[in-house]
Amino acid sequence: MKRTQIKDALQSTNYNNPITIAGWVRTKRDSKGGFSFIELNDGSSFQNIQVIADESIPNYTSDILKLTAGCSIAVQGTLVESPAQGQSVEVKANSVSVIGLADPESYPLQKKRHSFEFLRQIAHLRPRTNTFGAIARVRNALSFAIHQFFQDNGFFYLHSPIITGSDCEGAGEMFRVTTFDLNNIPRVDGAIDFSQDFFGKSTNLTVSGQLEAEIYALALGNVYTFGPTFRAENSNTSRHLSEFWMVEPEMAFCDLQQDCETAEKFLKFIIRETMEKCPDEMAFFNKFIDNQIVETLGHILNSPFEIIPYKEALAMLQKANVTFEYPLGWEHGFQAEHERYLTEELVKKPVIIIDFPKEIKAFYMRRNDDGQTVAAMDILFPHIGEIVGGSQREERYDVLKNRILELGLHIEDYWWYLELRQFGSVEHAGFGLGFDRLVQFISGMKNIRDIIPFPRTPQNADF
Ligand code: 4AD
Ligand code: MG
Repeated sequence: MKRTQIKDALQSTNYNNPITIAGWVRTKRDSKGGFSFIELNDGSSFQNIQVIADESIPNYTSDILKLTAGCSIAVQGTLVESPAQGQSVEVKANSVSVIGLADPESYPLQKKRHSFEFLRQIAHLRPRTNTFGAIARVRNALSFAIHQFFQDNGFFYLHSPIITGSDCEGAGEMFRVTTFDLNNIPRVDGAIDFSQDFFGKSTNLTVSGQLEAEIYALALGNVYTFGPTFRAENSNTSRHLSEFWMVEPEMAFCDLQQDCETAEKFLKFIIRETMEKCPDEMAFFNKFIDNQIVETLGHILNSPFEIIPYKEALAMLQKANVTFEYPLGWEHGFQAEHERYLTEELVKKPVIIIDFPKEIKAFYMRRNDDGQTVAAMDILFPHIGEIVGGSQREERYDVLKNRILELGLHIEDYWWYLELRQFGSVEHAGFGLGFDRLVQFISGMKNIRDIIPFPRTPQNADF
């Protein structure tokens, strides 16, 4: 069907010209004089277009009067200037064909308002609601802005593998990939014999594309990955998913300071772009989800992020007169409550914590001269806490090798990672942005399960 998308129809000034549109009925109102007003949405924009159909249309009584929310229709008609307030154009129908009916008795979105918990159970229909349609378009705009930022700044898009033989973060929170018959796993002397598994070794779903990004950064200069990552951590919180999307730039000839600068510039660019591309969605979030969100985002765009060493941030939190649920201490790291208190109450703008104790960070982070800390950085946003985690990488062969041994990691798994430090090693750095956390932040949504189309969380992989 050749149709005009509703977003284009709404912008058009081709008055009195023929137009074909198609979509799903949001509401219909029949007026006494043989008129019906149909609010039609095709997903191309937040806004509906109003269709006016009258009894001169042959199937007016048999079809149009029976239309209910959720029915799909195609409309041929004329685009006309709208006399009604709040819309510039409407479509005067010449013919309306019903494509698919939606029984009002059983169509779950017949009712206007549903809880987000309920909508999670109908993930196949929730994108037809205002909220989830808006989230989907924001995810799209944000993805595009991410590519745009990197493409404009000399980065190459890298496809890092989903199935991997290494554990980047060393946290052991990985999903196994196997074709073994679980009732009949091959063993040698009691131990599982992975040489008989599909890849001839033990493999998992990746937790991060960073190690592969480092390989390509040390050849192409600046690269970024943008793909799904998987973590089998049993965290049932409003900001954790078992499958989430991560953006991981990696830059050669780059230190921690440049890494922080790039991350700040990047975040500001993609937030600004998304706000500009999705004004209707942002207005909706601000009205119905979080009426501070546009102001908060504006504040973030206009504030220089505050860089604070971990040691100082810890002292600030210890000095603050608040009781936290989790204890504070050099080797405890920060929990979400600490992160939020820092950014929301103490600093009142985004905070970049740098120089973390080496004990609480991954093996690959560059050791600082003090011997105690590593050149790591976490960016903290209000409401969400950590949104970005990154570091300068250890580029010194001996230091890296000793750290791997010290931590008791299998050194043979890292042979290629170590070789990169033997052949033309350079200082390099990168970071990972939790894409879904940023969507959650921008939309003001309370739960990360409601900003990804099909959430995977412990005990839940429906749809
Ligand atoms: O801090 P993380 O674990 O860092 C890394 O994976 C590094 N390899 C990144 C790098 O330097 N290239 O994760 C990065 C970000 C976090 O700051 C957070 O925003 C997000 O990923 N994240 C999650 N988002 C949703 N659900 C989860 N379970 C997440 N775990 C991390
Ligand atoms: Mg982190």
